[in-house]
Amino acid sequence: MTTPVDATTTEAWEDLRTLKDALVPDLRAWFTADPSRAEKFTFDLADLHIDLSKNLIDTDVVDALLRLADQVELPAHREAMFSGERINVTEDRSVLHTALRLPADAELVVDGQDVVTDVHEVLDTMFAFADKVRSGEWKGVSGKRIETVVNIGIGGSDLGPVMVYEALLPYKQQGLTCRFISNIDPADCAETLADLDPSTTLFIIASKTFTTLETLTNARMARDWLLRALAADGEIEDTDEARRGAIAKHFVAVSTALDKVAEFGIDPVNAFGFWNWVGGRYSVDSAVGLSVAIAIGPDGFRDFLGGFHAVDEHFRTTPAERNVPLLMGLLNVWYVNFFDAHSHAVLPYAQYLHRFAAYLQQLTMESNGKSVRADGTPVTSQTGEIFWGEPGTNGQHAFYQLIHQGTRLIPADFIAVANPAHPVKDGDTDVHGLFLANFFAQTAALAFGKTADEVRAEGTPEAIVPARVFEGNRPTTSIMASELTPSVVGQLIALYEHITFVQGIVWGIDSFDQWGVELGKKLALEIAPAVFGDAEALSRQDPSTRSLVSWYLETRA
Ligand code: F6P
Repeated sequence: MTTPVDATTTEAWEDLRTLKDALVPDLRAWFTADPSRAEKFTFDLADLHIDLSKNLIDTDVVDALLRLADQVELPAHREAMFSGERINVTEDRSVLHTALRLPADAELVVDGQDVVTDVHEVLDTMFAFADKVRSGEWKGVSGKRIETVVNIGIGGSDLGPVMVYEALLPYKQQGLTCRFISNIDPADCAETLADLDPSTTLFIIASKTFTTLETLTNARMARDWLLRALAADGEIEDTDEARRGAIAKHFVAVSTALDKVAEFGIDPVNAFGFWNWVGGRYSVDSAVGLSVAIAIGPDGFRDFLGGFHAVDEHFRTTPAERNVPLLMGLLNVWYVNFFDAHSHAVLPYAQYLHRFAAYLQQLTMESNGKSVRADGTPVTSQTGEIFWGEPGTNGQHAFYQLIHQGTRLIPADFIAVANPAHPVKDGDTDVHGLFLANFFAQTAALAFGKTADEVRAEGTPEAIVPARVFEGNRPTTSIMASELTPSVVGQLIALYEHITFVQGIVWGIDSFDQWGVELGKKLALEIAPAVFGDAEALSRQDPSTRSLVSWYLETRA
């Protein structure tokens, strides 16, 4: 493979270092000196209205960041991704999540395979199935319509579906509910199934590989629960044929490994495929989103895909100086590599996005948590920052203190919609307006702070003036949309996918593998016999693990 350009050896990197050394952050002064600053750094991207002006940038910094993108050959890498080159070098795979949202009349042939036709064939079968469940044509083994869909998956086979389902609750069909089981902690399965009626429950087993321990264990537990409960209720006979019939009506699968789906006992007719060129954390817009498609319907899901595609087109074709994912990815590099920012907060002022940060954690951190470059050489700068967050205003009463007055710089993305799903009033007060007043206030407070003189002018005793000073110059990006539609959710996801890509290219890493999760998985299987009492396996463990497992064996009931 070709060696990625080392960003730290570029002229642009040197320029950025010089600019950083000379920079005295002063957002108050910058806004005063340039009345057009807000306008200059605000962009519209599909339905998203994005204000970058409260970041620690000026046009010189932006120009240098854009030169950096050129000098690490970002445009060529971007084209390589969109056209299906095998940019996931450690797994020798194309990276084509963008193909999942191409319209049916687009053309993309990779390795002789017409990718667009493949994608739309699966979408059509998914949508036909979703329609059957939604209309009640698809019935459980006892002839009842499905009321609850339980998605069993983990990582990308869970976080995307659950985040999007929660985000789009106002769009879901009445009488149909989705639940999600991911953790191998049996509490997850037990609590999720506790009050469900098996005769109206449909399970989707979502696993790209169909080998994941957590998912297959939960799937087997769910299958046992279903068969036991149906038998206890007298809904099925005590025969293998009856059990097979029940599984066919209550279990479907989403996977790239359709042979393994069949081995599990799920009829291949009820399996929805996708491809190795879709990474797990980039898969919610594939058949992995089946639960969402059932909940919001094919039209809603098409709208969702359309949102992704609009951002893909923007990222692929918009000139660099107006290319929002490019600018936001470069801004993250600016903070990580030149301000030593360790983390990045994502703060949706939209309760429906309450799982967005959790979703982004896998997208960004599994992608860019790397310390070797794509050619195996060590990275030459810091990489992947920690993404975290909670919806506002809850976060304001928990951790914002540290963002406002802590010692670390924490860039933060604030996300809000103008039109709520619930436009209610408290007396005469529009509650959502009050909510957004907090959104606007927080970004202003972070940017402009409060000086000692302003604190004194409020009559604050001198001794506590320092504690009440806000330095300001805490960078934020504001992302707004008219409403949280399926398209807007797709746009938000695609925006962060491409931001993640940009950072990975600058750092020269493979953002599409995830070898770092393998060792723990392997060791869990090696340690399992010790946990089940195999003395010889226990003796092979390191002293600390041996002692912990021994304590567990003595302590468990
Ligand atoms: O362990 C990490 C991981 O491979 C993720 O990348 C993936 O999303 C998750 O496990 C689940 O994998 P699968 O969909 O194959 O069950």
